[in-house]
Amino acid sequence: MTTRHRIALIPGDGIGTEVLPPACAVLDAVGKLHGIELSYDELDWSCQRYLAEGAMMPEDGIDRLRDHDAVLLGAVGWPGVPDHVSLWGLLIPIRRQFRQYVNLRPIKVLEGVPSPLVRGTADVDFVVVRENVEGEYSEIGGRLHRGFPEEMAVQEAVFTRAGTERILGYAFDTARERGGSVTSATKSNGIIHTMPFWDEIVAETGERYPDVSWQQEHIDALVAKVVLDPTRFDVIVGSNLFGDILSDLAGAVAGSIGIAPAANLNPERDFPSMFEPVHGSAPDIAGKGVANPLGAIWSASMMLDHLGHPEAAAEVFDSFASVLAADGPRTPDLGGTASTDEFTQRVLDGIGPG
Ligand code: NAI
Ligand code: MG
Repeated sequence: MTTRHRIALIPGDGIGTEVLPPACAVLDAVGKLHGIELSYDELDWSCQRYLAEGAMMPEDGIDRLRDHDAVLLGAVGWPGVPDHVSLWGLLIPIRRQFRQYVNLRPIKVLEGVPSPLVRGTADVDFVVVRENVEGEYSEIGGRLHRGFPEEMAVQEAVFTRAGTERILGYAFDTARERGGSVTSATKSNGIIHTMPFWDEIVAETGERYPDVSWQQEHIDALVAKVVLDPTRFDVIVGSNLFGDILSDLAGAVAGSIGIAPAANLNPERDFPSMFEPVHGSAPDIAGKGVANPLGAIWSASMMLDHLGHPEAAAEVFDSFASVLAADGPRTPDLGGTASTDEFTQRVLDGIGPG
């Protein structure tokens, strides 16, 4: 029996366009073995499009994505287009309109990938659960007195009970599934309205999960601990801003930001979820054919898992993990000399019965 899925592809800018073809090649290879047929609708939504037509995506962009089973995205952002334009013109509307309120980022130190940290990295295996649709990334605020000495900007952080409860519920569910614990990122000593509110809801949620242990840490101390001893964490949950910073840090802890995957999930499945590597468009290496496609391939594997194909997802994970563990080729960000294509080919070679 063949299962079919329609995937919307948004390569975006820079290396986004270089890492998605490898991810699709891997998806197709593993799909063949597992009776999964993926069809792709490729969309040219990007900074190029913005420069040519004045918008990152067409006005009915969200509707065009709606009837897909998932969205696979490379990266958006390019010099000459302000980053807030590319983010708010594409990524943030998709995350919000499709209620992708969970941003899930697994971190593992893979065998054969040197972490900048040295002690006991083999046990590093945690996930960052980032609140993805509210918090510090809000549209509430404005600017006043432009051009005068008293010019000012105000930006309000928005924490709703519903939004906070659902992300914390997701984090505790994840910890329960993993048989682990929750660490909540806070800053209630300095941010005295929203963060104590967050902490209260953490404690309430903790009571509903008596079998899951939890703790909270101020974000500044927490980032230091992630560097000093990443093995102690299992599920770290944070607001939109704290979660964003933590997951880039965690990606670096795992050896390279080029490896780190992310899922923007609508857990209720009312809307498509979106999968994308954590990294950006990397203008400094774009066009050279050396981008590490692993973040995109790992994100594609998370997509397979979400679409109901955990065995296929695991096969993708195992195939890239074994290329690295066997001291196989790797891209320059991991200290190797392989091109994007050479690395991808080795991953493809490892898929299937051969
Ligand atoms: P970046 O992630 O693009 O690059 C940071 C550094 O990591 C660069 O030195 C780059 O060469 C390296 N790097 C990143 N991914 C790599 C990969 N797969 N293989 C090898 N090396 C890799 O972050 P940066 O430079 O801050 O942002 C560049 C542009 O990307 C900006 O316009 C930014 O707004 C956008 N961006 C987009 C994101 C998204 O689409 N979700 C996320 C982060 C940034
Ligand atoms: Mg980030």
